[in-house]
Formats: sequence, C-alpha cells, structure tokens
Amino acid sequence: MDRVTGRLGGLAYGGDYNPEQWSPEVWLEDMSLMGQASVNLVTVGVFAWSLVEPHPGEYDFTLIDQVLELAHRNGIHVDLATGTASPPPWFTRMHPDAMLVDSEGTPRSHGARQAYCPSSPAFREAAARLCSHMVDRYGDHPSVVLWHVSNEYGDHNYHCYCDVSAQSFRTWLQHRYGSLAELNRAWGTAVWSQHYADWADVMPPRSVSYKSFANPTQQLDWWRFSSDELLTLFQAEAAIIRAGSSYPVTTNFMSFFKPVNYQKWASSVDIVSNDDYLLYTDPHPEQRTAMAADLMRSLAAGKPWLLMEHSTSAVNWQPRNLAKAPGEMRRNSLQHIARGADGALFFQWRASTFGAEKFHSAMLPHAGTDSSIWREVCRLGADLRHLSHVAGSAVEQPRVGIILDWESWWAAELDSHPSIDATPISQIRRWYGALWERSVVVDFVAPTGDLSKYDLLIAPSWYLVSDDDAGRISDFVTSGATLVLTYFSGVVDENDHVRTGGYPGAFREVTGLVIEEFAPLLAHQSVRLTDGGTGSVWTDRARVTTAEVLARYADGPAEGSPAITFNTVGEGACWYVGTELDDSGLTRLVETVLTRAGIPMSTHAAGVEIVRRASPENSYLFVLNHTAGEVLVEARGHELLDDRSVQGTLRVAPGGCAVVLEEPPRQ
Ligand code: GAL
Repeated sequence: MDRVTGRLGGLAYGGDYNPEQWSPEVWLEDMSLMGQASVNLVTVGVFAWSLVEPHPGEYDFTLIDQVLELAHRNGIHVDLATGTASPPPWFTRMHPDAMLVDSEGTPRSHGARQAYCPSSPAFREAAARLCSHMVDRYGDHPSVVLWHVSNEYGDHNYHCYCDVSAQSFRTWLQHRYGSLAELNRAWGTAVWSQHYADWADVMPPRSVSYKSFANPTQQLDWWRFSSDELLTLFQAEAAIIRAGSSYPVTTNFMSFFKPVNYQKWASSVDIVSNDDYLLYTDPHPEQRTAMAADLMRSLAAGKPWLLMEHSTSAVNWQPRNLAKAPGEMRRNSLQHIARGADGALFFQWRASTFGAEKFHSAMLPHAGTDSSIWREVCRLGADLRHLSHVAGSAVEQPRVGIILDWESWWAAELDSHPSIDATPISQIRRWYGALWERSVVVDFVAPTGDLSKYDLLIAPSWYLVSDDDAGRISDFVTSGATLVLTYFSGVVDENDHVRTGGYPGAFREVTGLVIEEFAPLLAHQSVRLTDGGTGSVWTDRARVTTAEVLARYADGPAEGSPAITFNTVGEGACWYVGTELDDSGLTRLVETVLTRAGIPMSTHAAGVEIVRRASPENSYLFVLNHTAGEVLVEARGHELLDDRSVQGTLRVAPGGCAVVLEEPPRQ
C-alpha cells in the first residue's frame, strides 16, 4: 500500500468516478470540487468496456485519455480499472454461450452487469485483449497509481451451470481426485445410486428432482471450484497487467462474501482492497463494519489495505435504504482507517441521475454542494489530511483470533443438516460483537495460518476440519493457549464425511467431551441452563470425559447434559459452548474467557470503539464514539482531528471521533 500512499503523500481519499455519465463541462467542475474535498484518488473505467470497445476489436480510448489527462493536471491520482467487469452487449450477441446459466438451466439476459460465465473461453479471450490494450496504453501513465482488475468478482455471477462450466468443473475434479474411483469415494456416491462410471456423467449440482438435496460433497466441490474459477480469471488478467506495468494490482473484495474464498485469493493481489456497505438489518451495523475491516487486515497479513468503496449515506440495493445519521459516515470511514485501511473511498463521486444506481448516495449528492453530505465529505477529506502520517502504520497485533475457514462455512450451510440455524457467520457476528464492546481487536484466522500469534482462538461451528488442522489446533492448545469451540464443530472431514465415535469428532480429545446425539431446537424455542442463562438453536446429548461442566441444560431435549464445559489440555485449555447463549450469557462468558486467558479488555460504555495503530516512531489512538453521550478516555498526546493537546483525559463528543498521536508512543 505504501506504493500508493507514497505517491499520494498520505491516506487515499476519493471514490469511483464515472465521467462517462457526464459531459466534459461537468468534468471540469468535478476537478475543482474534488480539490475542495481533498480528493486524491479516483477509480476510473470500471464499467467503460462498451465505450472503450464499441465494436468487436475496435478500441476508442478518447474518454479515458481525456479523463486521465485532466486528473493528472489537477493533481488527482487514478486507480485505473481494466474495465473487464461487464462485457458490452455485442459480446453477448456474438457469444450466446458465454451467458450465465442458472441452476434451472435458464440463461440470464444482458441488461444489468457481470453478464458472463466465468469459465467462458470467449469471455476470457475478450477480457485478456482489453487488459492488454489498457496496459499497453496506460502502463506507465503518470496519473495511475493502482490497477483495479475487473470489479467485485462473482458478485452476480459466482455460479454458472452451463455446459462450458460443467466441462471446467470436470477438469477441476480430475485435477483434485485423479480418478473417478477417488471422486466416487469422496462424494459418497454409494448413496442413492450415484456411482459414476464415466466422467461425462459428472455435472454441476444443477436443479435436481429432490430439490436442494443434491449430493453434499458435489455441492461443496462446486463452491470450491467456482471460487477457484474466478481466481484463475483474476490471475490471468492480473498477469497481463503485471507484464506491462509496475503499478500494484488489486481487485475489490466484498467483506464476508461467501462465494469467494478470499483467504485463498489474498496472496494474488498486491494490495487487499474492500467494499463495505452498512447492513441495516444488523442491530449494530458499526460492529459489522469493524468486523469487515478486521477481516481485510487479516487477509492483508496485518499490513495496510484500502477501503475501495463504502457509501456516504443510503445505498439503493436493500429493501429499505436508510440514510446515514449525521456523523455516521465519518465514524464509518475512521473505523476502517483505525483498523488498518490506508484510505477511504466511496461509491461514487457524483450521484447518477439515471440508471439503476440513481438513488445511491455519493460524495456529491443530487442536492449539490449546499448539503450536509457535501459538508461532511469535505470535512472527512480534511480529517484524512490531518491523519496523513498514519499511512503505513499497523494495528497492534491482536492476541485474539476468530477461526474462519471458507470451506467449513460452505459445508456447514449445506442442506440436509440437523438445523438450518447452525451457521458460523451468524455466531461469529455475535462473538465479534461481544469482543468489540470490550475493545478487543481480533484477527480472522485461517486454520492453516500462523496460530502462534494468538493466546485465544474462538471457533464458532467449525464444522469441517481436516486431520492436519485438527492436529495443529491440538498443538496450539497443548502448548498453552485457549480455544473456544461452539456447537456443530469437528463433525466432518474435508470430504464432508462424518467422523465416527461421537461428536465433536476431530475435537473430542481437546474438548474432553463426547456428544452422542445432536438435539437442535425449534425456531423460537429456548432452554434453561443451570447457571441461570438460556440457550437457543442447539443442544447436545453429551457426556464429559475429562472436561469440567460449568453449566448443564436444566430442561429441553438434552436436559441434564453439559452445555458449557472447560477442559485443561497440556498447558492450555478448551471451552465448549453447546448452545446459542442469550446476550447476557454470552457477555458473561466472553468476560470470563478473556480474564482467564489474561487478555485485557476495556471498561468503557458499550459503543465506544478504541483501536491503536503504530509505526516504529508513533502510535495513534483512535476513539470512535458511537454512543449518544460524551465519552472520557485516558490519553496523553496530541489530538489530530481537532488539533488539541490532551493531557490525561480525552473528551469525545456524542457520535464524535478522536485520533491521538500518543506521547510517549506506546509500543
Ligand atoms: C458495489 C459495486 C459498485 C456499486 C456499489 C453500490 O457492489 O462495486 O459498482 O454498484 O456496489 O453500492
């Protein structure tokens, strides 16, 4: 990221710029307003393919030439898109077999975006040609600082069930299994007469007679394949760009986007970048924002990353699109910066007046510059200038990690399971929230990652686990660390085959527990625990072998069975939580676990977010007050947003933000 911030002279600020929707007179106004707002980076050309290549093989770069030149003259840098996110209409007409086909076999029509099958050779060739032209022309353009390959891979086309995809799937499976015999074993085709005797019979999990009960391992491999297929598409485009330009390459991730295994992707991008939008169905959208930011920092291995898109206010794609409250956008942006982003960009610079996104907020709203959004945009631009030295610093290495394994996530949410409510991300969200309230910053850790950095790992519904990963976790605990495991964990191996002898299979020893039978609950059912709390979603009929029982079920289908247990393992310990605890039960448990693992937590009011970033020279204390009351935090140094000295007590206004350059720096 320093290759970008070095050229920008600090944190990145700006957004998607779509001049193709406006006249050249408006562009001139844009440049001057961008200056007013302290914008220094814009993303250009994301959806410009149909203008750049209006007819097959005929390229017209006039618009991009002019815009890059204008940006350059005005001191604005460019994150230049390859433009390969959405092929032009002529492409679909000429290559009908490159259209996306859904699981029912219906081809999707042109008219929105991402209208292509990721496996299509025709699409891959056309995209590669466009990339070559782009890099030949702009590979060393002085305004460009970053390459933006495609856009949000897989957002609308993550699974294509066409015949071309079916063939690619077969090739991928041949590579994975080597033989049909191995595939038959892994897929458990002895069930329901599914044994394959010819590769030609192997298909994507298209809509089947017994709807949504396709072979589970076939479905799991389909998720794996589809993510890999998009990755090869990205890698092919990125390779072309890298061969012709020394500028770094990124593509924008989408936070916790299930179809794309970003843990597998992260090493292929030069800079991790992300798009994050508030979800108003979440009771605390700011916690979800922090969670996405922590995921990105984890994907970036702790190094700075870039917030490529968020919104100044409402989006247009939720059923009810709420406007942000005054100050909310500033807090959201600074949340990302606090958690390691070296810039905050928006979709988009100027609000569209036509098209599907005309009601999406922008930096420059329909109302123009005499508006609160514009004033907040200018203020945030000034804030980021005051924080320019934060660029390059890193968030303190967290001691707590949450295990996130995309393959296990896919497998856990397949059909025909004991309950549709045992989903890892919903639990991760709750555990994350409880830690966030105590200002405990967490990493999201792949089981194959470096576990030695952590004193505490939390693994909600870690359903699918390989022997290797289970072994590494056992070593982690034995050597003195703490693991918290929740229900529906350790159940199957990497082929989604059940581990017999009692659940939690791979984690029987480490939990000191044998579960004989799962006893999930009805949607609104809850059970009482002997410690006074309640549980929902799940219970187990279990017995302990070596674990200590901290709470049992006082009623319900597993009455008398252990609900929360604690097991000492070597130098370390493992907690098991067999049900979805109510809010106060979860809070109590999180505090107990943190205390026993020796992890400090803040005692500030709920809703006060405190994070520290540090460089070898400086440390920066971010305090973001999401509450309606003033907050007092102990700090010493210089507050950078309001340019004030802080000697002992930092006052942060309701809804306000502060960033203290600490004295002496805390290392
Ligand atoms: C993203 C996309 C942008 C814009 C934005 C709206 O998914 O990359 O182009 O559509 O959402 O929120």
